[in-house]
Amino acid sequence: MNILLSTTAPSKIEAECLVVLVLDASENKEPKPVPQSGDAAIAAAAADLIASGEITGKAFEPTVLHKPAGLAARRLLLLGGGKAKNFSVHELRKLAAAGLRAMKPKQIKSFAFLCPEGWSGAEAVQAIAEGACTGNFDSNYYQSERKDQNVSGLTIVLPAGANPKALEVAVESGRILGESQNLTRDLVNEPGNRMTPSILATRAESMAREVGLKCEVHGPAKIRELKMGAFWSVAQGSEEEPRLVVLTYEPPAAPASPVLGLVGKGVTFDSGGISIKPADNMDEMKTDMAGAATMLGAMRAIAMLKPRLKVIAVLCATENMPSGKAQKPGDVQIAMNGKSIEIINTDAEGRLVLADGLCYARQLGATHLVDAATLTSACVVALASINTGVFANNDEYYEQFARAVARSGEKMWRMPVDADYLELIKSDIADIKNTGGRWGGAITAAMFLKEFVEDLPWLHLDIAGTAWLKDGKPWLAKGPSGAAVRTLVELAHELATK
Ligand code: BES
Ligand code: MN
Ligand code: ZN
Repeated sequence: MNILLSTTAPSKIEAECLVVLVLDASENKEPKPVPQSGDAAIAAAAADLIASGEITGKAFEPTVLHKPAGLAARRLLLLGGGKAKNFSVHELRKLAAAGLRAMKPKQIKSFAFLCPEGWSGAEAVQAIAEGACTGNFDSNYYQSERKDQNVSGLTIVLPAGANPKALEVAVESGRILGESQNLTRDLVNEPGNRMTPSILATRAESMAREVGLKCEVHGPAKIRELKMGAFWSVAQGSEEEPRLVVLTYEPPAAPASPVLGLVGKGVTFDSGGISIKPADNMDEMKTDMAGAATMLGAMRAIAMLKPRLKVIAVLCATENMPSGKAQKPGDVQIAMNGKSIEIINTDAEGRLVLADGLCYARQLGATHLVDAATLTSACVVALASINTGVFANNDEYYEQFARAVARSGEKMWRMPVDADYLELIKSDIADIKNTGGRWGGAITAAMFLKEFVEDLPWLHLDIAGTAWLKDGKPWLAKGPSGAAVRTLVELAHELATK
């Protein structure tokens, strides 16, 4: 999308549609809608609608006027922005996205978005650009009747005194973040037959080439040579070869420490293996590589935004399939770090591939680990599709992460990491077993991973509920969400500036 900055007066902006936010400045129930512009023509256009009570300022309430008097724009979209006292840069991001999404069914290809009063600095402009980019994504690209609904142009309208030159960097950052989140969504959207481990690796390589990242791709021989017995145990049942992908971002001025290690679960299809899943909704398991896709999106943005910090991404890509070669319940596997694992359920495969991925990231020099995975349905039971589950073994590191979350505006909720839960995954015949029974399933999965990070500060993001949205939102299409990408980029900044 082409994004321009303009200081032309709102009434003089020539556009197919000008979007103006209307905030509800009321302190009580009775709405008090206030259009976010000092422009007399806009105030006049809105006046009757407000007087009639047709506009309340409720979040995402859309009201379109054609040929508004005194405006050069062909349409005016008055878009409700919710309570003024709750307004934040995160609301602004969503409203820019919702504004763009309102253009799509009207086949409007370019539009203008007016910065609300007091929100025209770098942070605001970046959020508008981010929102517009993520709002532009739709997942239905295999439908032959689909018209190209993508919006190609946005003009961000700044107040008269603003300096557009100084805000261009913010637009660019917003675009990078939004497009990187969309890369993740695009990868997650692909079905299992079009997103095999080798295709995922090829996509990683081409992204790396575009942004100048180092990328190494390894196959079965290297995985076995590294003694990744846990990763291999999942891969062994499939006709598709696994891939171990390592991406490295190392800017010249990066200090020796910290080194951020991002580890992604890349199960391109999870049938459950011998512990096969029921047929209903099994198709959804094409999204089981979302953790790896999240790390690819984050690495793209990191490579382009260039924080002063070394970052390594390790992606473990495989299918989880039943076959005569597949691992069986009861099997014992030895992970890269020498720990023995009793396989109780072959469907608890994510923790197996991550165990070796985490270990390898540490071996490659990571001092701080994060993994992202569509790991457990128990996490979806606990938090629905609203919050990503966050597990941390280190409070200081968690606090840094919480600051990143505050800046990204993504919804995340901390879950316990507590030695008492380790009892639930003790095995009679091995060091540890791969499931912990029915209760606390998201936590026992996290406890399993914790056995492979040794003493490193580590965060685990369970995105099983948040990576895919069954229902669209005014600001985000249904389907793959790209959850956690922007937060991880913020975390890299956080570690780089400390
Ligand atoms: N990929 C699934 C988890 C999942 C479920 C992701 C729903 C997205 C939506 C994972 O590999 C899995 O099968 N987990 C099992 C673990 C169980 C066998 C201990 C689960 O959560 O049911
Ligand atoms: Mn599974
Ligand atoms: Zn899985």
